[in-house]
Amino acid sequence: MITKFNHVAIAVKDLAKASNLYKEILGGNVSTISHYKNHGVSVCFVDLGNTKIELMQPYGIDSPIEKFLLKNNSGGIHHICLEVDDIFKTRDHLLKNNIAIIGNKEPTIGAHDKPVLFLHPKDLFGTLIELEQE
Ligand code: CO
Repeated sequence: MITKFNHVAIAVKDLAKASNLYKEILGGNVSTISHYKNHGVSVCFVDLGNTKIELMQPYGIDSPIEKFLLKNNSGGIHHICLEVDDIFKTRDHLLKNNIAIIGNKEPTIGAHDKPVLFLHPKDLFGTLIELEQE
């Protein structure tokens, strides 16, 4: 089940600009930008010690955050990520409790090279939740 808060993700239209703002103006410890073709996003992380901010921009065609940015013109909070101890056990437990899991319900490898799942916002009070196994 859930253990820790891992990160909050903010969708942006211009990742280079966002990364620069967090680094140069806010003075944050910002990672380099990575591209994830299979997830359709480019991301960088702002390391805040106790947590992180994930800044992400669409990558390639059919990015899952393209629509989000059409509805949220200046960008916005896209999801939060919570850590779980056992992603398969958690998934089965959630499905039993009628919590919808996005996609084919199998964990994929996320931006930290760890298995992740996304829970549908309709069952979580309007918030898209990423679960990541530590
Ligand atoms: Co994330």
